[in-house]
Amino acid sequence: MPDTPDRSALEALRADFRARVASARTDAELKALHDEFLSRKSGSVTGLLKQLGSLPAESRREVGALVNELKTEIESALDVARTALTASRPPAGAVDVTLPGRELPLGRIHPLMRVRREVEDIFTRMGYEILEGPEVEDDFHNFEALNMPPDHPARDMQDTLYLERPIIGGIWGAHRRDALDGKPPDAQVRAATLLRTHTSAMQIRYMQTFKPPVRIIVPGRVYRRDNLDLTHTPMFQQFEGLVVDEGITLADLKGTLEAMVQALFGSNAKVRLRPSFFPYTEPSAEVDISCQGCGGRGCAICKHTGWLEILGSGMVHPAVLEAVGYDSERVTGFAFGTGIERIAMLKYGVDDIRLFYENDLRFLEQFPA
Ligand code: DAH
Repeated sequence: MPDTPDRSALEALRADFRARVASARTDAELKALHDEFLSRKSGSVTGLLKQLGSLPAESRREVGALVNELKTEIESALDVARTALTASRPPAGAVDVTLPGRELPLGRIHPLMRVRREVEDIFTRMGYEILEGPEVEDDFHNFEALNMPPDHPARDMQDTLYLERPIIGGIWGAHRRDALDGKPPDAQVRAATLLRTHTSAMQIRYMQTFKPPVRIIVPGRVYRRDNLDLTHTPMFQQFEGLVVDEGITLADLKGTLEAMVQALFGSNAKVRLRPSFFPYTEPSAEVDISCQGCGGRGCAICKHTGWLEILGSGMVHPAVLEAVGYDSERVTGFAFGTGIERIAMLKYGVDDIRLFYENDLRFLEQFPA
């Protein structure tokens, strides 16, 4: 700042102020400008006013007027800028609708649900009906009608959880009274005493309610008295398949399972039927698929056999057909049942079934959204 203010020094100061006030964007910047030019102790314009006294009388008047004019201009420009800033500020609590949206974390389908839906899609395309049944069951539907009378040793394979007190449960089919000739499904009103050990119980309920032909898939939760380990949880999920009609053969069973396995695991997957035993099928077969780890050559996953067991199946036992009032001389059928966890473990290479129920996001996020 020159010791004696002259016109050009004043104009330089004015130009500096105008440029700076035009670019000020905040209250703090305006306050800093005010202090720099007008503060009582160190403001540059204030300094000029203080120097007026030392000017010769003849120029004091003229310069004084110019400095005062600059001071007034600065004050009113700061006022205008402050007012404009306040006016442009959104009211408290206002929402800026121009902000981009915040991304919401998107959940994904649980791997077990993915497998279940995939299976449902496969069989829907083949013309099957998908339905669920009751999880609290009675002894008749879960065991007896499936050819497992009270002391049958096959019951030992599926120890279950019993209710403390029987309840009226397990009623199914009431929603389809039309199929029951208007009668309530009395045959199904029994005291439920247990949690079903397999979805096979629905074979019986369905056949009690509907006449052949039958073509159903029953997904759902089942329960067993098992302790948690790598391959067991006391609650798990299955799906049951049942087809009954005239002329159904073992070839239909194998073809159907092959179609299912290839849809689930790819067209190179092979199926093998191994003789086995289930009380409700005759003959019975355990079904293996070619090992997905080694393509069937043999590896640690398949214990060097090239095959992995995925389900139980067979031709519906005549005693089961008779238990629901079907004519076993006229119709035949096949059935199969498998664990959804088991399929998911093979499909996704999961080696511990408990992971499906721990809901650890680090596990779940590895599956496609
Ligand atoms: N219910 C059997 C289980 O839970 C699986 C099964 C085997 C179902 C053979 C069937 C079948 O329908 O025919 O282990």
